[in-house]
Amino acid sequence: MDETSTSLARLAILHVDESNGSDEGDGSIRNPLKSALAAYTLNLDAQVLTRKAEENEYKEISASGSKKTKKLAEVRVNKAKKQQEELRIQQEAQQRKLDEAKAIEIHQDKSLPLARKIKIRDSIASRGQRIKIFGWLHSLRSQKGLIFIDLRDGTGYIQCVLSGQLAQTYDALTLTLETTIAVYGVVAALPEGKSAFDNHELKADFFEVIGKAPGGEDAFLNVVAEDSKKLDYLLDQRHLVLRRETEASLFKVRAAVLKAFRQSYDELGLLEVTPPCMVQTQVEGGGTLFEFNYYGKSAYLTQSSQLYLETCLPSLGDVFCVQESFRAEKSMTRRHLSEYTHVEAEIGFVVFEDLLVHIEEVICRTITTVLSDPYAGPMIAKLNPSFVPPTRPFMRLEYKDAITYLNEHHILKEDGSEHEFGDDIAEAAERAMTDQIGLPIFLTRFPVEIKSFYMKKCEDDRRVTESVDVLMPGVGEITGGSMRIDEYEELLEGYAREGIDPKPYYWYTDQRKYGTCSHGGYGLGLERFLAWLCDRFTVRDLSLYPRFTERCRP
Ligand code: 4AD
Repeated sequence: MDETSTSLARLAILHVDESNGSDEGDGSIRNPLKSALAAYTLNLDAQVLTRKAEENEYKEISASGSKKTKKLAEVRVNKAKKQQEELRIQQEAQQRKLDEAKAIEIHQDKSLPLARKIKIRDSIASRGQRIKIFGWLHSLRSQKGLIFIDLRDGTGYIQCVLSGQLAQTYDALTLTLETTIAVYGVVAALPEGKSAFDNHELKADFFEVIGKAPGGEDAFLNVVAEDSKKLDYLLDQRHLVLRRETEASLFKVRAAVLKAFRQSYDELGLLEVTPPCMVQTQVEGGGTLFEFNYYGKSAYLTQSSQLYLETCLPSLGDVFCVQESFRAEKSMTRRHLSEYTHVEAEIGFVVFEDLLVHIEEVICRTITTVLSDPYAGPMIAKLNPSFVPPTRPFMRLEYKDAITYLNEHHILKEDGSEHEFGDDIAEAAERAMTDQIGLPIFLTRFPVEIKSFYMKKCEDDRRVTESVDVLMPGVGEITGGSMRIDEYEELLEGYAREGIDPKPYYWYTDQRKYGTCSHGGYGLGLERFLAWLCDRFTVRDLSLYPRFTERCRP
């Protein structure tokens, strides 16, 4: 309350409406208070008029009521005054301290050895030597004249201690989270009973602020607070959210998983290629194609690199790629992105069972590599403590048996009816079944009608295809694959069935003309694989800047 309103309140007759008033009010008849205590707290000398719940008119408060309430108000007012005074003294002391701090200058001690610049990941190896580390201020606390900083540089975290004059400078007293600093000193192991990252700390002999980060309302923690903000807001602030520990772990695991996939493919003899993302052909149905203007003509963002991979088999042998795929998905589910990272492979001269064994091998080998990675392994253990690596062979479940399973277990369609042969099993039903079974599943032999034009039909039942989806508990489908039609006429029938004009696909059809082979392949959604491995509810958490319906920013 400013001075004018305080003096107005002193002159006022204050109104108290016990049922409709509010202690936030000013006591006027239009804006009455709720309690006499609030009225006397505003002005001990006021004439207080009250209106009880059942009354229509304001009446002067009784003498005894007034006396009792005034006493309480007096205590309250005095307490508030005391608190204000204490605050003022504190602020003045703080200001004096800051003013004095401005006069403190720190310099590097020239007699010390020259500090060698290192990354935090190399700090264990550099113990005992004078080093300097650049990084972001991840957390901060002060205790008994010391300032403890957890510094982060992307390669790790290290506790730094500022002591003596270093902890008294203006910069030290005004440090904020996410400020960039350089800390000079020696890394020393911590004594038993104390804990910090890597069980050591950097005892600073000098530090410099490089770039300050805001405090107050714009302070980092206010911007990225999980509970107080809407999800959409956090996605707008993704550039800052990515600095949090969990997000950093997820993207480090992601990098380790990509590296492990590449290692698996290398060990299994597949060659990496990079097909184009701007294409003229669909792979997985026209409904989810993103169209764009390519020098005045229509072109599309690729849904899958599969067709290009198939063309590589005759010249490069078995191949794989790690490429962005794009789907104009209308659904806002937790496992659909408009742009995702697609790990795809194609292998030649194989039969369906070879393809299944290969998929098991790649998934299990990659998991083994990544879990034994000294950095990613412990991060996965922290993110998903109950993760159990899959064992081989994966359970094989034919589509027709899955339909029976769903009906027997009362897992119904979205409209409440039972599943029938030919239905595209919806995401919720598929996940319910996978979660009940609780194991990786090869769901095989899908009907021709619900699968793409290129899928090979089964010899023993022409209604179904040599196709497979890999289903993982918690996520559902993470991989889709199949044997490909290797016979020219059958491929033309496939185009016709799906209403696709074969002309722009001449280069794909030529594979069946210039020396065909029995081959198959698959695509694995990296974000879905990671959601399973790191136990995340949505694939969005595994995409750096997720794109989904109506979000293509920042
Ligand atoms: O089952 P899909 O559509 O199969 C293909 O694209 C094949 N042409 C791949 C191939 O055989 N080379 O997609 C394969 C995988 C899915 O199992 C899923 O993991 C992922 O890609 N995926 C998506 N991930 C995130 N968001 C989406 N909208 C996805 N659509 C598919």
